[in-house]
Amino acid sequence: MNVEELREELAHFGQEHLLEFWDDLDSEKKQELYDDIKSTDIGEVLQFFTKAMENAGEVEKVDEKMEPIPSELIGSVTRSGKELEKWYNEGLKQVANGKVCVLLMAGGQGTRLGVTYPKGMYDVGLPSTKTLYELQAQRIQRIQQLAYEKTGKHGVVPWYIMTSEHTKDPTEAFFKRNNYFGLIKENVVMFEQNMLPCISFEGKIILDQKHKISRAPDGNGGLYRALASCNIIDDMEQRGLKYCHVYGVDNILVKLADPWFVGFCIAKGANCGAKVVEKAYPTEPVGVICRVDGKFQVVEYSEITLKTAERRNQDGRLMFSAGNICNHFFTTDFLRELAREHEPRLKHHIAKKKIPFIDNSGERIVPTKPNGIKMEKFVFDVFEFSMDFAAFEVLREDEFSPLKNGIKADKDNPTTARHALLSLHHRWVLNAGGRFVDKDGTPIPAIPSNSAQADHTSGARANVDYCRTTNSQKATDPDEYPVVCEISPLLSFSGEGLQPLCDGREFTPPVLLSEGDYQEDKESRIDNN
Ligand code: UTP
Repeated sequence: MNVEELREELAHFGQEHLLEFWDDLDSEKKQELYDDIKSTDIGEVLQFFTKAMENAGEVEKVDEKMEPIPSELIGSVTRSGKELEKWYNEGLKQVANGKVCVLLMAGGQGTRLGVTYPKGMYDVGLPSTKTLYELQAQRIQRIQQLAYEKTGKHGVVPWYIMTSEHTKDPTEAFFKRNNYFGLIKENVVMFEQNMLPCISFEGKIILDQKHKISRAPDGNGGLYRALASCNIIDDMEQRGLKYCHVYGVDNILVKLADPWFVGFCIAKGANCGAKVVEKAYPTEPVGVICRVDGKFQVVEYSEITLKTAERRNQDGRLMFSAGNICNHFFTTDFLRELAREHEPRLKHHIAKKKIPFIDNSGERIVPTKPNGIKMEKFVFDVFEFSMDFAAFEVLREDEFSPLKNGIKADKDNPTTARHALLSLHHRWVLNAGGRFVDKDGTPIPAIPSNSAQADHTSGARANVDYCRTTNSQKATDPDEYPVVCEISPLLSFSGEGLQPLCDGREFTPPVLLSEGDYQEDKESRIDNN
């Protein structure tokens, strides 16, 4: 260790405070700090900081430069009619041919949810107690099965999982403990995103401990750098993959490798695509996808005036209505181009945070108000580099319910996530010809009367009065709104295949349909014949 040389280097960048407690450290900790600093490209980090701060000034309104996505680049589950079937078949064919992979971004710290383990390990209180990771793993298995049934070919959908320093070890251990949820280990590829130092508003790198720099993951847009540095695109190419569905960990309804979406993007010749949901109301705080100066981009609500947010088309729909839900399609060729050429041009956004730090006296302080910034790239900031972009509009109640907040928040919390899934599965059973009755045989109305109290305007589907269950209290109360009905993803990906099991049947909640039920049902029907 050449500490004097390091001290000089740090002084050159105005960061000599990183060695302030050097003399307090034992030799092991000295080595750790030395390695920690040496492994950091301080010049690069400070450059990121300067640029991010330049961009962080007054938010520029972009109203004048905005145009909606051209209608010919939009597909819709409600308005695309016959084309949907073609897209579905194409998507399944690509899955069967082993051309499609999924990529989960699971490196976030999940601070709003406030648990000490990765968000994917969270159990929102479903009757099955399945975690987000398990639901996703089983949806992959189901889509592989559907592709096989359609084509007779066993295509594999490899699952790439981006973790970070915070989520890597627990995620790996969790998958191992659960035997990769029935997937083949080699087809679950974990890789780690980069971490960046946290910086005070004055531009000083923050010490988390006397011997350790404070760091945070570099945002979900850190994906592109990690894809290159961890040789993930090479791995995709070696496996012959052509299409990648990228998504966030927290959407309990996510349809992995969704054949409609994949088939649609292929049909449009897109190298980059996004699933969107219709913005519910003009002031809903959701980023919308549109074109700005001719380039595709996500525009945040703060970047437009109310007048623009309220503009409507002749059909009465909002003009800027394509709400971004962190669900993207990429060709592997485009991912390589992004990682190679465009990644360095992505700007960091800043998030002002309360960052624990070591004060001048050597005490570790947990601040009560923001004292510094984390720098993050956003996954969608690459849309501007796509000349072949397409957007696929899906129904929010079928496909989007993110778990962002803890149980006490009034939206995007474990209860709203659980209710979204139960309500979707309840509808699947009804559509497959099933009926629900309570314990004394009284029919449960298809539209529960208390659903009238659901708060659609805030985006929270559940009225807080009904939020009785917590993560530890499982949602098996038959009176819970909505009807407690869960269907294993191994049985149905999107409501398909349930008729033999549900048609003409009565169910009393709580209902949990799993693959075993299907088997039993089939056997009993065979016996009866
Ligand atoms: P969010 O922006 O909601 O962040 O991430 P978060 O970390 O989950 O939660 P908060 O803000 O700390 O409460 C959206 C998606 O992007 C992933 C998350 O794991 C989630 O799937 N993400 C976010 C990363 O993979 N890496 C990051 O650095 C940040």
